[in-house]
Amino acid sequence: MTQLDSASLGLLAEAVARLDEGFAGLPGQSPATPGAAEREALLAAAGRLQDNYPYFHPLYVGQMLKPPHPLARLAYALAMYINPNNHALDGGRASSQMEKEAVAEIGAMFGWDDCLGHLCGGGTLANFEALWVGRELRPGKAVAASSQSHYTHSRLSGVLGVPFVAVATDNIGRLDPADLERRLAGGEIGTVVVTLGTTAAGAVDPLPAVLELRERFDFRVHVDTAYGGYFVLADNLDTDARAAYDQVGRADSIVIDPHKHGLQPYGCGCILFRDPAVGRFYNHDSPYTYFSSDELHLGEISLECSRAGAAAVALWTTMRAMPLNRGGEFARSLERCRQAALALHAGLLERGHAAPLFEPELDIVTWALPAATASESSRRAHAMFDQAAAHDLHLAVAEFPRRLCEASGAIEQWDQDSLSCLRACVMKPDHLDWIPRILERLDAAAVELELA
Ligand SMILES: Cc1ncc(COP(=O)(O)O)c(C=O)c1O
Repeated sequence: MTQLDSASLGLLAEAVARLDEGFAGLPGQSPATPGAAEREALLAAAGRLQDNYPYFHPLYVGQMLKPPHPLARLAYALAMYINPNNHALDGGRASSQMEKEAVAEIGAMFGWDDCLGHLCGGGTLANFEALWVGRELRPGKAVAASSQSHYTHSRLSGVLGVPFVAVATDNIGRLDPADLERRLAGGEIGTVVVTLGTTAAGAVDPLPAVLELRERFDFRVHVDTAYGGYFVLADNLDTDARAAYDQVGRADSIVIDPHKHGLQPYGCGCILFRDPAVGRFYNHDSPYTYFSSDELHLGEISLECSRAGAAAVALWTTMRAMPLNRGGEFARSLERCRQAALALHAGLLERGHAAPLFEPELDIVTWALPAATASESSRRAHAMFDQAAAHDLHLAVAEFPRRLCEASGAIEQWDQDSLSCLRACVMKPDHLDWIPRILERLDAAAVELELA
């Protein structure tokens, strides 16, 4: 049975022919066609790529990986015939314009009509820009983020030479506003990172409570919603998550990754600033790149220089076919992901071999394996990871602090402070239909490991 789509390659050929028409007036040249050596090399690469987990398949629920939309893949490949560089309009005129349009629509999704933003390599770089602008506006002040925030926030703070403050979480992994308040009282925090959709558990930090604290303390609010951002469009979030997403527009900066839930190939992160005036921090002089236009070159508002214009073309094309509308096809597919997570969570609750940590807020499900001790439970999680893989079900193992695991009731005696748990990212639109088959495989693995 064929797993990978090659049927749409015909559409690519049609689009390449259309693109070609735009250059018909040029004197002829012979396009290079691959010969025997190129064929051998490409087929060798295909062979090498077989050594991968099947990321595109619904039985792959391990890392935070979502296959790009077929259209994004085709548009990216189409753009490769031009290979535009979105640093300057001179290097990528159409693709820069497409990036501006796509980014404006992402801003509008959060209620921002006049923000400053651009695409970049990914969430880490996008967060870097937000923390850097924060440092320029609050020199010498620290970055604060929850202990469940993405690990790069503390590392990026180190790169920027600013202190990092890890804020405690509640027992479902959300930033604890009371602990934040205590730390703000010291007056040393300049930027607070609020994560809407933590990487390990998909927890949604209480943005409204952080915004209330901003009334009393002077700090910037940066929302890292690299993974969770598009859920702002979903109509089936719980009350707390909905309240957080409803306030995103009050943040100072937002990071969202189209290469996570936005159906894009890797190399597509996005940073947005509410106040376009922060563009002044990017000011630089590049006499050899900006010569054909007085219009904004994206390199004038981004830290990176060369960037794949193809990423913007892929994003623009995908959004044209599936606009970012509440109630639209794209929003519905996110709602199905959350439904899938709730279905998996409910299925696990019924099983003796699994103890879910908490109800998923987005589409990541986490569970512990019941055992007498935390060390035995951790050992079982690793064994389950391997046994499920033998059934083609690919999970992830995630380490959680004791506090986040206690309510699951999985452990009788805590002989260590953290627990290895299982984690499933059910972020593919068809995951909802696959939950019964995922549970079947978990049951089979549990029987084989004598856990059920
Ligand atoms: C919340 C969050 N922020 C930042 C990142 C880093 O993004 P990237 O891997 O695109 O650099 C991730 C990655 O999973 C994430 O989940």
